[in-house]
Amino acid sequence: MKKIILGLPAVLLLVSGCSKTDDFTPDAGATGEDVFKTACVKCHTPKESGYYFDLDSSMANIAAISKQVNEGSMAMPSFPKIQGETLHSLSEYVLANSKTR
Ligand code: HEC
Repeated sequence: MKKIILGLPAVLLLVSGCSKTDDFTPDAGATGEDVFKTACVKCHTPKESGYYFDLDSSMANIAAISKQVNEGSMAMPSFPKIQGETLHSLSEYVLANSKTR
């Protein structure tokens, strides 16, 4: 019984979360912080101590964060319209407001 209760949310997450795309398009001149607070904070709320992520060392760099944003993951939508300068400053903002495990 316990197994079924625990398994159901995981299945729903898989079904609803797989390969979703978010068409969010940042305003010209939006900073990384603007974008994060518009498009990301609904899922990524700050932890008690005020930072957003406990990043694995493999995730704690601009390239890996940018890839996560553009490609998403099983549970996170992809944001293909965040690109260039905006993507870079968004990734910097994430990095500056995270801890590394
Ligand atoms: C619909 C909810 C949702 C939105 C919106 C969302 N994310 Fe995520 N994100 C997730 C989930 C769930 C995970 C954890 C699962 C995973 O790592 O695949 C995650 C993981 C991440 C990670 C990796 C964290 C780690 O510890 O490895 C980063 C970085 C990230 N998100 C950044 C962003 C940024 C930047 C945005 C805004 C452009 C964003 N997310 C928008 C749900 C979301």
